[in-house]
Parts: sequence; C-alpha cells; structure tokens
Amino acid sequence: MQIIDGKQIASEIKMEIAAKSAAIIDKGDRPPHLVAVLVGEDAASQTYVSSKERACKEVGFTSTIYRLEADIREEKLLEIIDFLNKDDEVDGFIVQLPLPEQINVQKVIRSINPSKDVDGFHPVSLGRTMLGEPTFLPATPYGIMQLLERSHIETSGKHCVVLGRSNIVGTPISVMLSRKAYPGNCTVTLCHTGTKNLKEIAKTADILIAAMGQPHFVTADMVKEGAVVIDVGIHRMEDNSEKGYHIIGDVKFDEVAPKCSFITPVPGGVGPMTIVSLLINTFKAYNGEIEK
Ligand code: GUN
Repeated sequence: MQIIDGKQIASEIKMEIAAKSAAIIDKGDRPPHLVAVLVGEDAASQTYVSSKERACKEVGFTSTIYRLEADIREEKLLEIIDFLNKDDEVDGFIVQLPLPEQINVQKVIRSINPSKDVDGFHPVSLGRTMLGEPTFLPATPYGIMQLLERSHIETSGKHCVVLGRSNIVGTPISVMLSRKAYPGNCTVTLCHTGTKNLKEIAKTADILIAAMGQPHFVTADMVKEGAVVIDVGIHRMEDNSEKGYHIIGDVKFDEVAPKCSFITPVPGGVGPMTIVSLLINTFKAYNGEIEK
C-alpha cells in the first residue's frame, strides 16, 4: 500500500510555479495576480481564503482579498465582480462559497468573465471541461487528476466509481476521468443518494473517489483488494486537543488503507492539491490561455 502524499506533490508543483514566477519578475514584468472575494465571516471560508493567500505568497504571486459585509446586496457584489472582470491587473478571481442567503450564487458565478474564472465554476468553463476544450478545470477534480498523474497510476480501462454528484467535484471528475486522455479513459460509475446497492458498486471499483461529504462513510467492506482510493472529504471533528478539532475524510482510513494499492490521507491528500490547481489556473489566466 502506498500513501499518495498530496502535501509533498503540492510542494513540488509549487516549486515549479515559483521558478516560473521568479523568471517573470526577473524580466521586469508584474507577477500573476489572484483576487479572492470573501463575503461574511464564515470560519471555514476565512481559513480557505487565508490558505490561498499564503500559497500565492509562497510562489511569488500577488494576491488581494476583498472582504465584504455579510449583508451586502447582490447588486453591489455584481458591481465588484464587473470591476474585477475589467481590471487588467487582475488575472483571475474567485468568489468564495458559500454566499449569504440574499445572494443568488448561480447569478454571481455567471457574472464572472470565463477568462478569469480560475475556480472553473462558470457554465462556460464546465461546458468546456465536458468537451475536453482548453479551460480552467475546477480545482478539486484537477487536483485529483494531478495526484493520479504524478503517482503514475494507470487509469485506462479501469472502473472508476465516484461517490457524490456535486457540481464542483463528483460531476466534473466523472466527466474528466471518462475522457480519452491520461489520466482518463476510465469506465465511470457515478453513485449518489438515489443509488441502489451503492456498497456493492463501490466494491467493484479499481479507482474509488469518495466525495459524498459524509465523514467515515467508506468502510473496508466497500473496497476491493488493490483499489486506488481518493478521499475528497474534509470534516472538522471537535476534540480535546489544543486546536479543539481534528480533520477526517469520507473514508475510514485505518481500516481501508491496508486493502489499497494507493490511498490519499486526510489531511494531506487532495486538500493541498486544490490550492495548487488554483495557482496553475491563475498562471494560465496570466498567460491569457483561456478565452472569454
Ligand atoms: N468553497 C469551498 N470550496 C471552494 C472552492 O474551491 N472555491 C470557492 N470559490 N469556494 C469554495
């Protein structure tokens, strides 16, 4: 059994990005610039946005956080997005989710110029993802693809079972892994809350992607001997430690790991790769690789 060290792989990719960024700065050009829009005080969102800011610093990117009041009107947020769309010094930006109730999330996402949509959440970005056209791939699925690639895991002809059909993970990764490419060319089964015999189907997976958002859902009896298991879950469990919590995934790691050929831990698996994907996308945006 081999643990896929997402932290290590993320760190290698960050070094590669930092070298490219340094070369740009040496030439006298401005570095790539990522903006994060944070609405309200959601604790998890604040942590995520801070991590994104830190990652930008590590690779020499400029980053700016727009901190907006929780009661901001939708119209005002759309004005800010319009401003960011037009600002030539901003290569890409994200609007951190979730957003407060008064705001229509889909309307906000649709208002982002696809050439700056480094989260890859815009319908145009997702449509291009589905067609295999150049685009910003959504960060978490893109991170999973890079983990498979950098770990040299064979995917062609394999049966991949994805648990969870969210717009930001389950649905896009199922499309990405079914395309004729590497990683990809899998036969994909997408399981969700309406699936009958989910356990039996999971057990047929050569590659099992757990992204249903339920702590410790995947147990050893659901996993085939020799499977590759990718755990996308991130759940805070309160405890008596100094921090007051620890993080667990969608997979019961201790009992599942011994059966696997490869497995991602939580924390330190998919999580660090998500931010790296965002950095790669920001670099693509800086280079003008993705059209409007
Ligand atoms: N909330 C949780 N994950 C994400 C993400 O990847 N991007 C944004 N914008 N919000 C999130």
